[in-house]
Amino acid sequence: MNNFDNAIKGKPTEQTPIWLMRQAGRYLPEYKELRTKVSSFMEFCDSPDLMIEATLQPLRRFDFDAAIIFSDILVIPNALGQNVSFETGKGPILEPISTREDFKKLSESLDISKLGATFAAIEGVREKLPKDKALIGFCGAPWTVASYMIAGHGTPDQKPARLFAYQFPELFQCIINLVSDASIEYLSGQIVAGADTIQIFDSWAGVLPTAEFEKWCFHPVSRIVREVRKRHPEVNITVFSRGSGLHLPRYTALKEINCLGLDTTIDLDWVSETLQPTHCVQGNLDPLVLVSGGEILDHSIDRILQKLGSTNMIFNLGHGILPETPISHVERLVKRIREFRK
Ligand code: CP3
Repeated sequence: MNNFDNAIKGKPTEQTPIWLMRQAGRYLPEYKELRTKVSSFMEFCDSPDLMIEATLQPLRRFDFDAAIIFSDILVIPNALGQNVSFETGKGPILEPISTREDFKKLSESLDISKLGATFAAIEGVREKLPKDKALIGFCGAPWTVASYMIAGHGTPDQKPARLFAYQFPELFQCIINLVSDASIEYLSGQIVAGADTIQIFDSWAGVLPTAEFEKWCFHPVSRIVREVRKRHPEVNITVFSRGSGLHLPRYTALKEINCLGLDTTIDLDWVSETLQPTHCVQGNLDPLVLVSGGEILDHSIDRILQKLGSTNMIFNLGHGILPETPISHVERLVKRIREFRK
């Protein structure tokens, strides 16, 4: 019985499945130890053995229902010829795209050989992963990836990309198309390598007005989802469009999507009335509640489980786990979900 696979396909489950976004990473001492084996994060994302180990680490510690392949959304700009690096404490650093000339320096299409490590790591994880666990592949949504490509670094509100999209809409459309095509190839490669589920992270969807959300988030993500579904009829597809609130029902019109990610802000009564009748949902515990622990953690878990019920439901955070999260709180979370009786 694969609880995750049943839940995401809308079938009954014995228990609510659980995994956590960014579940491999810096809150785990064994990840921090593994990370010292190479000097740069991009090198880590190009080393199948390290990626396999980082992917499996959280499943050894916690009884999660899914593994997510260890990599990053910014391997796509890197494979398109834009130099990407990560500096400790600063986050990602890319050569920013500000002009048509900068854009022309990118490759015209994806160099798929630069992503071979991800495919090899997926094959390696598949061999080791028990059959009752899901294996999630992923990419960033074109808007979210492009926002880093334009700014060249993380920002609190993606101002550089929003301004660029208003001032140079045609050029911005070219970037979105390039990233969309690359994402289709990348996701397909991950599915062929053994991912049974793919998730598209649109972490910055929430900063756009409705018309721009439609143009830069909804349309490109829909195109990717349709094409991936056409090529891989059996794969499970999740879209996590953070901060999209009332825009989310746009996605319920897409039958190609199995599951919609829920951020921390969304109203769960609205979710159960509007999204859950047609789609599985996944979320939405505040990562800071997990850092806090104690009664508020227990109460918040129970509330989500009660409101979203047992069908069309996967437990997760509303955004990635924070590095300062105590391991004992994650243990407490998994235990409480396993023991929950409706
Ligand atoms: O979920 C997992 O455990 C798989 C691995 C994973 C990473 N990044 C590893 C990582 C996943 C799914 C991502 C997705 C990702 N990367 C997103 C979308 C999800 C989200 O959190 O919004 C985004 C926007 C990125 C881009 C990115 N990567 C940033 C802004 C940063 C720096 C800030 C930060 O969170 O550290 C990264 C670096 C990164 N990606 C690390 C890890 C483990 C930390 C680097 C290190 O360990 O040195």
